[in-house]
Amino acid sequence: MKNIVLIGFMGVGKGSIAREIVKNSHYIAIDTDDLIESMQNRKIKKIFEQEGETFFRELEKNIALWLENSVNNTLISTGGGFYKVKNLKKIGTVILLDSPFEEILKRIHEHPHAKNKLKKRPLLSDMEAAKKLYELRRPEYLAIADVVIDVTNKSLEECSKEILNKVKKDA
Ligand code: S3P
Repeated sequence: MKNIVLIGFMGVGKGSIAREIVKNSHYIAIDTDDLIESMQNRKIKKIFEQEGETFFRELEKNIALWLENSVNNTLISTGGGFYKVKNLKKIGTVILLDSPFEEILKRIHEHPHAKNKLKKRPLLSDMEAAKKLYELRRPEYLAIADVVIDVTNKSLEECSKEILNKVKKDA
């Protein structure tokens, strides 16, 4: 079983969908932001504040090398900028969770812990800038993905089923 690598913009539901896949399969899931936070013993927000984004991107590269060399049969959810690591495709089957920017914002705002979701993501502090980032990244996400899943208006269960069917077929 190859790894599954979930990519996509902040707030699109990578973590929630990963947790749903775990419920419906034998996959064990890990998350690149969680790995970085435990390795650094501080939150992503703090790392951005104290060290800046470039340092954070270096940490992502280190995690990517470790994933490529040491992790198999695993579902990997990633931070929204992780797709830029050079060895992404060597880590596993890359699955893009795709949705329009407005739908992603709606999803974040409808979440019971919306405030917290926004607070912990430094790149969502300025919505104009976030939209620009989305527009810049979307074609890059599409270009690197092996599989694109449109998650708009779909339940977690539907998304999870779609992804598992896709990887079964490709196995
Ligand atoms: C980032 C997304 C975040 C986190 C960091 C940077 C990005 O992860 O890695 O704040 O560049 O899009 P989520 O996509 O889980 O919010």
